[in-house]
Amino acid sequence: MYNNQFKIKELRKIILYHNYLYYTLNDPIISDNEYDILIQKLYLLEKKYKRLKDHDSPTNIIGSNLNTHLGTKKHLSPMLSLNNISNINQFLDFETYIKSKLLLEDDIIFCCELKLDGVAVNLIYKDGMLLEAITRGDGFIGENVTDNIKNIKSIPIVLNGIDIPDVLEVRGEVIMLHQDFVQLNQYAKITGTKLFSNPRNAAAGSLRQKNAEITKQRKLIFFCHGVGFFSKSSWKFSSHFNVLEIFKSWGLPVHHSICLCKNHDEVISFFRMMESTRSSLNFDIDGIVVKLDSLILQKKLGNISRAPRWAIACKFVSKLSQTKVLDIHFQVGRTGVITPILQLSPIKLGGVIVKRVSLYNKYEMEKVGICIGDIVTITRSGDVIPKLVSIDLLNREKNKLKLIIFPTHCPICNSFIQQNNGIARCMEDWNCIEQRKKKIIHFFSKKALYINGLGSSLINQLVDNNYIFSPIDIFNLHNFHFSSLHKVGEKLTKKILDNIFSSKNTTLSRFIYALGICDIGINTAKILAKELKNIDNFVNVRISELLVIDHIGKEVANNVFNFVQNLDNRIMINRLSNIYIINDI
Ligand code: IVH
Repeated sequence: MYNNQFKIKELRKIILYHNYLYYTLNDPIISDNEYDILIQKLYLLEKKYKRLKDHDSPTNIIGSNLNTHLGTKKHLSPMLSLNNISNINQFLDFETYIKSKLLLEDDIIFCCELKLDGVAVNLIYKDGMLLEAITRGDGFIGENVTDNIKNIKSIPIVLNGIDIPDVLEVRGEVIMLHQDFVQLNQYAKITGTKLFSNPRNAAAGSLRQKNAEITKQRKLIFFCHGVGFFSKSSWKFSSHFNVLEIFKSWGLPVHHSICLCKNHDEVISFFRMMESTRSSLNFDIDGIVVKLDSLILQKKLGNISRAPRWAIACKFVSKLSQTKVLDIHFQVGRTGVITPILQLSPIKLGGVIVKRVSLYNKYEMEKVGICIGDIVTITRSGDVIPKLVSIDLLNREKNKLKLIIFPTHCPICNSFIQQNNGIARCMEDWNCIEQRKKKIIHFFSKKALYINGLGSSLINQLVDNNYIFSPIDIFNLHNFHFSSLHKVGEKLTKKILDNIFSSKNTTLSRFIYALGICDIGINTAKILAKELKNIDNFVNVRISELLVIDHIGKEVANNVFNFVQNLDNRIMINRLSNIYIINDI
């Protein structure tokens, strides 16, 4: 019993901490799946040991720690959460439960919708005019985001149509499209502001701005998924599906993927269809929501603490796997950024073996407080890149762990690491052998000044042997340089030397991209090439000229200007432009 009391207490602490990260900071470190597992564990323990139940347990309250800079407002009727399930059998249990509670024998009609991964908002309309918009908060009181919400184009300020209730609460979700999230983070990278870890956090951060003008610039979207309070004198809604149809007729946005299912088989088909088409949507969903369609039956069933008995979230299960952290190494990137890479005990995930996972940066590593020996959950984001989901904090054997400390010096050249905005960087540039290798590899990569046969393994060997120190040295190589290299015979040497000799024709955009200036991808390089026209203009460009170019922000302009003003870079560009014939396009 004592052990369980301890476990319950620890779980509550952990969940409250994650609530704080999610609701207050918009910066969670675990996935929804992981969070749900924690809630479920706590719920089961509290169910088993009723004596240890507590009114303030996170299982009773909807997680919130209001960040009150916006002011708070009360909902007219509580905003509930949803219970989650993650397999079909659990859905069939849910149906059986409803049937037994309502003494039904016939098939039940369910309304199925997408479970939008966004920020829940309550819109209050009075006489058809948008009066207030409030975030869910603790379910009773939320943040007043009225001014910000009025800047979301898809939300009507005035409802149009017949029989609009005098007072109406519209519930829905504010989301951000993938492309807008990517663009926002690209901009944040350039301006050095905080990056968002996913579209939902970006939507939450954008909605909870003190300055509503910022919300206006962020492209947020809203979809309704339900009704709260409504004055009954006017309209009588007959079913949930009918509510959404009527909402549409009044001008409220409702996503088209709604399915009225006549029985559980149709629900299961809808779930499977959405699971398989999920990756083609341009916004995030994390499952479907199944709702009893009849409002009368919904009322009969009622709610249990924080969730209705008549609805359930059927979550998609992402591929997750647990493994152990064996070690860590710190990778030095082309521009000197140091990235922590966890070495894992190999696991199979979605058909491939995962041996390592990259943490985003120093800040990310320290935020999660990872130790060697930790058991971690890994997923493959977008089913490709392995990603750390969470650390099993509950079963940590403290005496067997070794906390990972971020190095103060570059693991390659031992120079002092500089830090800015949570990003750690080795500033030695070409003097750091790892940066040198990566810069040369980038210089001769496919989108840059590509030379067939000159790949990373060859360049690494040439640098290790001190045969090359910059891209220019490639053009001074002879047969004998290759003779000592691994897996490079005479035939290959001749081919590479021929290719080097015949690869001296290029375009200005490729040339600019090859220089590897911070934040200059191939598209920005094309914009610069189009505007500046030739290499002389590029080298002598002034900051004022850069700032007037479309799509070139302050940060990029500074990076270009600083690069071309650096004497070593000017010498390198000059020597390279004597080797290459640089065409305009
Ligand atoms: S219905 C009483 N429908 O999921 C019913 N919620 O995990 C409450 N959500 O707080 C919500 N898509 O913010 C409903 N189609 C949908 C939804 C949806 C996303 C959110 C909502 C809720 C959370 C619960």
